[in-house]
Amino acid sequence: MEEPGLTLSLRKNAVIHEILQMGDPRLLRIAKPVTRFDTPELHQLITDMMETMHAANGAGLAAPQIGVDLRVVIFGFERNPRYPQAEAVPTTILINPTLFALESDMQEDWEGCLSVPGLRGIVPRFKKIRYSGFDPFGASIDRTVEGFHARVVQHECDHLEGMLYPMRIKDFSRFGFTRALFPDGALAEDA
Ligand code: NI
Repeated sequence: MEEPGLTLSLRKNAVIHEILQMGDPRLLRIAKPVTRFDTPELHQLITDMMETMHAANGAGLAAPQIGVDLRVVIFGFERNPRYPQAEAVPTTILINPTLFALESDMQEDWEGCLSVPGLRGIVPRFKKIRYSGFDPFGASIDRTVEGFHARVVQHECDHLEGMLYPMRIKDFSRFGFTRALFPDGALAEDA
């Protein structure tokens, strides 16, 4: 009888990486563009990022968070225990992204980050954006999105500019430890 998970494990050996934490200077770099697509190295990086994100229940992950200085982000989930209210976001691998705000309206909502474990803050983000970039094979991606999808893309792409969400907080009275902010345990702990 075939063991569940065997197919997955035969595909590629994924490595779960340590996620760098705020304070590590590698999170502050401006990441470099990917110049070669569809390479074994790029596919391996993405496999590792996916495993690392899933192991941490992340909604997204940027390559700099595992110390890789490249403009690669991944995001997406059906349901996420860290963001139980969020609508599903399609699983996406986005390379060399460009973002455009389509409306000047900003929307405030809670954010966390795997590099800032145990904390949450209210972060203003553009409500509606258009983003473009490439998939790992070099095919172009071009989407117009809003809501949590727009938020997660802005958060992940910020990582490529050395920007962490606390740097975007305007109201520090709504920044704190998840456990203290949500004592009923409505949100899954970050770490
Ligand atoms: Ni983050």
